[in-house]
Amino acid sequence: MNKIVEWESPSNIALIKYWGKYGVQFPKNPSISFTLNNSKSTTSIELIPKKNNKVEFYFDKKLNKEFGLRIEKYLNNITSKLQFINDYSFYIRSTNTFPHSTGIASSASAFSALAMCLVDLDCELNNTILSKKKASSLARLGSGSACRSVYGGVAMWGKTQDIDNSSNEYAISLNNGISSIFKTYCDDIVIVDADKKSVSSSAGHKLMDTNPYSTEKYNQALVNTRLLYNAMQTGDISEFIRIVELEALSLHSMMMISNPSFILIKPETIYIINKIREFRNDTDIPVCFTLDAGPNVHILYPDNNKIEVQEFINFEMKNFRIISDYVGKGPVKLR
Ligand code: PMV
Repeated sequence: MNKIVEWESPSNIALIKYWGKYGVQFPKNPSISFTLNNSKSTTSIELIPKKNNKVEFYFDKKLNKEFGLRIEKYLNNITSKLQFINDYSFYIRSTNTFPHSTGIASSASAFSALAMCLVDLDCELNNTILSKKKASSLARLGSGSACRSVYGGVAMWGKTQDIDNSSNEYAISLNNGISSIFKTYCDDIVIVDADKKSVSSSAGHKLMDTNPYSTEKYNQALVNTRLLYNAMQTGDISEFIRIVELEALSLHSMMMISNPSFILIKPETIYIINKIREFRNDTDIPVCFTLDAGPNVHILYPDNNKIEVQEFINFEMKNFRIISDYVGKGPVKLR
């Protein structure tokens, strides 16, 4: 019988942003993220006897040649790390629980689910124990931010002297010592625009190479990593809010001052940001925002403020579609 494994893996939302890379997908600065719960990909890999075509990829039960070619290229790039890739053809099926192009990083959940399947198959074939570090490192080669999704809760990626065992090769779990309030944080995503991004993240990373402020930005992220980690250990939510919002705006500022310049936020993005800040000032409820590389706004808040914050969102953002998510436990093996 053909060997088959199946994993589900969530997306993640960065608090400290990875923006700028070098070499084989190494980050120019460390990043920290929340792994989400509901927004996930489910992927199965069936190893079949070697045929002419290496990869047959089905997304939502439909053959997808474009993604299939991207995965084939990815597999060819990692054969030195997983020898068995040379010996089989791959029948891959994948689905997402969240709609396409909603600002939720599908490449993060897709590549982390794929990497978990690959590492799991390697373990079965060689009778070894699954290594999350190896899965993270392989996920990184598919999409940088995907390497953080192999851990639940809080994850960080990128070498810094401030965090033991941190590495540019793979992400690590950052859950030990983190205040419990952050372990059940909520993330409601306000969909401002569901269209495909006008600038891909790989083009965005590349523009950092010629951005005159990039060195300053990498240093800022390095300092923010240390400060955010401290704030998350001590449960200092005001400091958490300050850094998370600064990181989001700093990311978008970099886009605006790159050459060529691009603006991914929309007037509605600013409207929502202002509403969140107003609500926070008026009520002292510790709600804040972050942005991915797009116009949609992630509203972050502690679980124990859910009722008030959701009332606020339902009232102020009633014209927008909202996807509700929260911090989750990471990938799960299904088969
Ligand atoms: O993993 P990539 O290459 O799609 O880059 C992700 C970049 C951001 O989502 C903007 C930030 C991050 O750290 O996830």
